Amino acid sequence: MQTARRTHGFRESVIRGMTRLARQYHSINLAQGFPNFPAPEMLKEAAARAIHDDINQYAITWGAQRLREALARKYQAWYGLETDPEREITVTCGATEAMIATLLAVVNPGDEVIVFEPFYENYGPDTILADAMPVYVPLQPGHPLDLERLADAFSSRTRAIIVNTPSNPSGRVLSRAELEAIRDLCVRHDVLAVTDEIYEHIRFEGEHIPLASLAGMRDRTVTISGASKTFSVTGWRIGWIVAPAELTDAIRKVHDFLTVGAPAPLQEGVAAALDGLQPPFYEALAAAYRARRDLLFNALSGSGFICTPPQGAYYILSDFSALASLPRSGPPLSDTEFAVWLSREIGVTPVPGSSFFREGGGGSSLVRFVFCKTDDILEEAAQRLRSLSVISPGGFRNRASEPAIRSGLQQ
Ligand SMILES: Cc1ncc(COP(=O)(O)O)c(C=O)c1O
Repeated sequence: MQTARRTHGFRESVIRGMTRLARQYHSINLAQGFPNFPAPEMLKEAAARAIHDDINQYAITWGAQRLREALARKYQAWYGLETDPEREITVTCGATEAMIATLLAVVNPGDEVIVFEPFYENYGPDTILADAMPVYVPLQPGHPLDLERLADAFSSRTRAIIVNTPSNPSGRVLSRAELEAIRDLCVRHDVLAVTDEIYEHIRFEGEHIPLASLAGMRDRTVTISGASKTFSVTGWRIGWIVAPAELTDAIRKVHDFLTVGAPAPLQEGVAAALDGLQPPFYEALAAAYRARRDLLFNALSGSGFICTPPQGAYYILSDFSALASLPRSGPPLSDTEFAVWLSREIGVTPVPGSSFFREGGGGSSLVRFVFCKTDDILEEAAQRLRSLSVISPGGFRNRASEPAIRSGLQQ
């Protein structure tokens, strides 16, 4: 049977492949970006109560009233953004659905969409599904956005720019000046900004500035975020979109045909958390992630990886090419070969860096590690990574036949 051409360019999710590899080698999975710690009680209790109260049927397609109202209060309180929950907010099945529903609703076949590279894995397939042409602009860890290259990427064919801050995988938190430069280009070229702000509360430096809050951007920004990362509930699939009414209208139609709606009782749980959790919760979240970042960053840089501490999100993109303990015979290891080698020999599994770049676009000496894990797992990973600095070149162990280290480390 033939399959549609649009799927032929899709790669299997590299991250899921690495998870299988981690299982095979009894390795610590620092590939997949989901937390392994509990969600806030308030959220879970409210969702459980909603199920007991038989909130089990379809919610309103564009989101439960209570959640949309809680979101309007949140955007007002945090960012001074006035939004109309009736006409400008849509609840989706995660930020993932929010992004594809938005692109399908606002981009025409052949339109160009600017994407920063390295990028979150889904943006590539998203642009393909929307028949758009991605145009890449580099955004490297620890480096400012190259404003000249950004300006060059805009043309009369540009319809939208995807802006992810704090960014996965670069860890950059875009500054006000960078966001204002993006704003100026969007206004000059009449381009729409689609922002992915899923890590808005996981930040170690700088402030989170929604692009929509900058003068001139309210009417040309689609703001996407969600509950997955802030409340450690990646499996609940609750995300949202804030957009001007006219855009929301089109986005809601696509969303309705794609999914009808997000899980009704879980929307109640997220609404309760948005209203009930106070600033100390968000401060504690960022502080805990900062400690995890420092632990993993120190282990990586201490073992010879070249990396920059991320300003936000929970990933460290690391260059492995200077590691003293790499096998010296034969050609240099590719990022995929290195990720397999590290899983097998050291027992820590990252994601190959090239999966965050277009085909042939780079990343061949990079791997990405997550730090959204409890201290016991990160400390064990740190200890294993440190062994890299004591293994002599070519003299690495073969751990492939070792029994599982501790069942708690398997995910
Ligand atoms: C940048 C970015 N956007 C979106 C998502 C997925 O969000 P959700 O779980 O809300 O679909 C992720 C998950 O890793 C991400 O890193």
